[in-house]
Amino acid sequence: MAATALRCLPMVAVVVLSLLLAGAAGAQLSSRFYDRKCPKLQSIVWSATAQAVATEPRMGASILRLFFHDCFVNGCDASILLDDTATFTGEKNAGPNANSVRGYDVIDAIKAQVEAACSGTVSCADIVALAARDSVNLLGGPTWTVQLGRRDALNASQSAANANLPGPGSSLDTLIAMFGDKGLSPRDMTALSGAHTIGQARCVTFRDRIYDDTNINATFAALRQQTCPQQSGGDGDGALAPIDVTTPDAFDNAYYENLASRQGLFHSDQELYSGGSQDVLVRVYRRNAGIFATDFAKAMVRMGNLMPSADTPTEIRLDCKKIN
Ligand code: HEM
Ligand SMILES: *[C@@H]1O[C@H](CO)[C@@H](O)[C@H](O)[C@H]1NC(C)=O
Ligand SMILES: *[C@@H]1O[C@H](CO)[C@@H](O)[C@H](O)[C@H]1NC(C)=O
Repeated sequence: MAATALRCLPMVAVVVLSLLLAGAAGAQLSSRFYDRKCPKLQSIVWSATAQAVATEPRMGASILRLFFHDCFVNGCDASILLDDTATFTGEKNAGPNANSVRGYDVIDAIKAQVEAACSGTVSCADIVALAARDSVNLLGGPTWTVQLGRRDALNASQSAANANLPGPGSSLDTLIAMFGDKGLSPRDMTALSGAHTIGQARCVTFRDRIYDDTNINATFAALRQQTCPQQSGGDGDGALAPIDVTTPDAFDNAYYENLASRQGLFHSDQELYSGGSQDVLVRVYRRNAGIFATDFAKAMVRMGNLMPSADTPTEIRLDCKKIN
């Protein structure tokens, strides 16, 4: 017995060591992670985000979306921030991100200030999580405590970005399945979709909806057709429209009011209110802004807890655009 245990010792050591190493990527997050290491972190992020949103309210929406697109591709690990190089193809130019995701410059500017205050300490992934929370709050939405201690990936994957991010033509079943793959419930999905109460979208993402879709308000379709030409391939593809037709710069529950009047901009939005399983919840959020705010905040924390797989090599990046 004792001899067997002794012979097994090296193997036990290897197992323990690899568990410790894996733990680096899958470590528990804590809201107080930087309390000692970088006490000014949260005030730096808040001020810089406030300045960016004051200059351009849409930037708050862009940063919120940046966080979503980071977290859905192998966890919240700042993989989306890595630039392509001659030998490396990352996520920035994946279909859902190219010419679409914005806010990289704002994150870089915040990171520079954070580096000046506490060098080599705070991950880019945590900065994005804080800036997304502050963006929502600055535009009138709820706030919540951000769990911290994420690490930045050394890799990124264009194909994973293409595969993991839902498109605007998605059905309700597809949306439920894609969020389910991330451990997020249909209720989380419907609450998180309320992010479309802020920000703008390009014609190319909603053209099918306003020309060919059913379950759309005819007045609303006609309004959007005025600036989004039916013919694809031209400059019109990039023409912007607010996603929320009434209050595009306010983080409120108007998104659900829009769904009730068949004014969802994307097919995927309107799928949440098309006679399916989420109709009841859409009506709840439409009637009660407080329940939406609470559910949204909880779902953001859960989305923010998505961790890279344990075998992902990580670090604290010094420049969010490239590995150290
Ligand atoms: C449920 C599935 C989702 C689909 C199919 C979807 C799709 C889209 C599309 C197509 C755009 C317009 C992109 C463009 O024109 O370049 C967009 C914008 C946006 N999305 Fe989503 N999205 C989804 C979920 C989310 C979630 C979970 C969040 C955040 C929690 C989010 C936040 C945003 C924001 C804030 C914008 C506006 C960004 C800006 O103005 O820069 N979306 N989304
Ligand atoms: C990074 O590499 C790890 C280990 O090979 C892998 O599990 C992970 O999915 C990769 N990240 C992305 C974004 O593909
Ligand atoms: C269609 O949208 C208009 C506002 O553009 C609204 O007044 C009307 O009630 C909507 N129609 C339906 C059937 O919801």
